[in-house]
Amino acid sequence: MNKVTIVGSINVDNIMHIKKLPQPGETIAMSEFSKAAGGKGANQAVASSRAKNETIFVGRVGDDDNGRFMLEQFKENGINVDHVAVTPNQQTGQAYILLQETGQNSIIIQHGANFDVTAEDVRNAKSQIEDSDFVIAQFETPIEATIEAFKIAREAGKITILNPAPARTDIPEELLELTDLITPNETEAESITGIKVDSEESMKKSSEIFHQMGIKGVIITIGERGSYVSYEDIEEIVPAFKVKAVDTTAAGDTFLGALSSELKPDLSNLRDSVIYASKSSSFTVQKLGAFPSIPTREVVEEALKEKN
Ligand code: RIB
Ligand code: NA
Repeated sequence: MNKVTIVGSINVDNIMHIKKLPQPGETIAMSEFSKAAGGKGANQAVASSRAKNETIFVGRVGDDDNGRFMLEQFKENGINVDHVAVTPNQQTGQAYILLQETGQNSIIIQHGANFDVTAEDVRNAKSQIEDSDFVIAQFETPIEATIEAFKIAREAGKITILNPAPARTDIPEELLELTDLITPNETEAESITGIKVDSEESMKKSSEIFHQMGIKGVIITIGERGSYVSYEDIEEIVPAFKVKAVDTTAAGDTFLGALSSELKPDLSNLRDSVIYASKSSSFTVQKLGAFPSIPTREVVEEALKEKN
């Protein structure tokens, strides 16, 4: 297991259960409404901590009930919150999730305090970052803060992992140059490389572009088909475990957190770590809500044993 610092977002998820997405001008009813702790950064931290990593979080909440609730959730999950700050007169981030019967979701984000995370917040966590095996970030908090975190990690010889989600097209080159391992899905990969990911050939091409940017490891997640791994002489699709999806929210985040607990800092066991990560996220898709659905190491290891 490793020590990991995650710079990222914290959201309360408002989940609207619907049959299918409404058309423009259409009014539909939800069959149920639920709330759960979430946010990409926060989900990755929970996955990391439940997989037995020592987990440090750098982020922000607002000074509201949601913020206090999320801080409690972090503590219950054994995550170090010394560097989770509270922004006065601000709301904690929220996500509005349209969850369809198929388990697919559409998400609308209210960033709130997540957009207040600064490079200075990151510098306050400098010694923790320097002492971590991995630093992980996503795109629900300001990129300047992530660049600062990756710079500190690089200088200390530590590994940086970028989960470029949600997709954006204006990523500074500097950030990509500071990235050691990148984990886009198909859409996110396309928004960075310009290559449509729809075949193994296109995954290979897309990975080559990432490698040319100086990124050593590439994992393109391709949903229920698994993930395409490209690192040194490895270039293959690691298939996903087949399960029935109830709610896919946080599946990608679980993959990241779990991966960071298995991975050796020299990335030499990347392929095997992907198997562990994808087993972990197969649990997440089978349950409702982000935090409540993320499995512990015991559960994942037990399930992996049964297979063999
Ligand atoms: O990746 C899933 C997460 O994205 C949800 O928990 C929601 O908060 C959004 O940020
Ligand atoms: Na879930």
